[in-house]
Amino acid sequence: MIRFDFETYVKPFINQERFNYYYAKKEFYIDKLTNSNMIGWTKPVLKETINDIKKTAKYIKNNFECMVVIGIGGSFLGSHAFHEIFKKYFNDESFEIIYAGTTLSSKYLEELIIYLKEKNFCLNVISKSGTTIETNITYSEIKKLLKRKYPKEEIQKRIFITTNKETGNLNEEVKKNNYKSFEFPKDIGGRFSFITSAHLLPLALNYDIEKIIDGYYDGKRLINRALEYAIIRKLLFEKGKLIESFCVFEQNMQGLTEWIKQLFGETEGKKGVGIYPTSCVYTKDLHSLGQFIQEGNKIIFETFIKIENVNNFINYKNKSLQEINNIILDSTMSAHFKGSVPCIEISIEKLNLETVSTLIYFFMLSAAFSGFLFEVDPFNQPGVEIYKQEFMESLNKLGDI
Ligand code: PA5
Repeated sequence: MIRFDFETYVKPFINQERFNYYYAKKEFYIDKLTNSNMIGWTKPVLKETINDIKKTAKYIKNNFECMVVIGIGGSFLGSHAFHEIFKKYFNDESFEIIYAGTTLSSKYLEELIIYLKEKNFCLNVISKSGTTIETNITYSEIKKLLKRKYPKEEIQKRIFITTNKETGNLNEEVKKNNYKSFEFPKDIGGRFSFITSAHLLPLALNYDIEKIIDGYYDGKRLINRALEYAIIRKLLFEKGKLIESFCVFEQNMQGLTEWIKQLFGETEGKKGVGIYPTSCVYTKDLHSLGQFIQEGNKIIFETFIKIENVNNFINYKNKSLQEINNIILDSTMSAHFKGSVPCIEISIEKLNLETVSTLIYFFMLSAAFSGFLFEVDPFNQPGVEIYKQEFMESLNKLGDI
């Protein structure tokens, strides 16, 4: 169960007439969504895809001790968020997944390669375009290690590629070497790809993906709430609240805020508009950014993600620590509201595979609606493409890569 509080610490900042004006256009926004050719993420995943993912995950778990996921942006943030939330802080016993390809740090890559030397590992390379340079460099460097360790036939069993079916370096790799591949659907963009094999394959190594899929589609019933949330954000923006900070009170939720930031940042930030998404992990950040939020420039609003029921393992003065954490959350919203900071609350009754997936669908819907409200295309990312192109041009000047 997910609850939304768009009232307590928000209402005084909202012009109800403007809200009603936008909300009355609900059918128009729904039609816009339905008529888009980039909404593969709202459609059911094929049974045969689920079976293929489960079969491959079983094979990976039976044959290797670790999988390196190589991808960046929308190709890894969703499964990484789950991995962060559900793995244990210490002595984690889940199947080891290493997320690489998100940096061009040579120190990181060198140390990763040294670590992998002794490991029985496989690779899952994920890129819709198949041309992303961070992904391709990481892949080619780790593949060199595979080549040093194993013969060709063995390498072929260790590489799993998720990409489009037509173009790009990864697609060529699949064709040339007959690697096992999964299709990155044409009608789904990176940040909306949670329900594709880009995320479901790494997730299937540790979790019941049927539960994840069920929870995800359960998010469909939140369509009205998603539109309300998108409208409230837009109205806050119109009032000069240009930054939205997503606040969590569990450090393992940070991966989720990274995913949310990418989703809203790339979806809305176009044509000189959009809300800048950022995040805080409280209570840590109450002792740093909290000061700015309470008393600094009034351009921020906050969206709190609350977990109502985590555990009662630790008690302090006859209260569970979880309760105390939530008392701090409530007090923070109340304090920040007094400092003219609107605070939206999204509460998850129980943190489990289903509820996190439901939340993911809810945020995707909200982001899509938000794009329409800001009158930008929610499904492209022309700015990211510009940087990729500039980078490639500079690299090409250095010669063949
Ligand atoms: O959401 C998006 O489309 C982007 O963030 C991409 O996921 C990111 O740029 C990686 O692109 P690709 O999957 O083509 O490697």
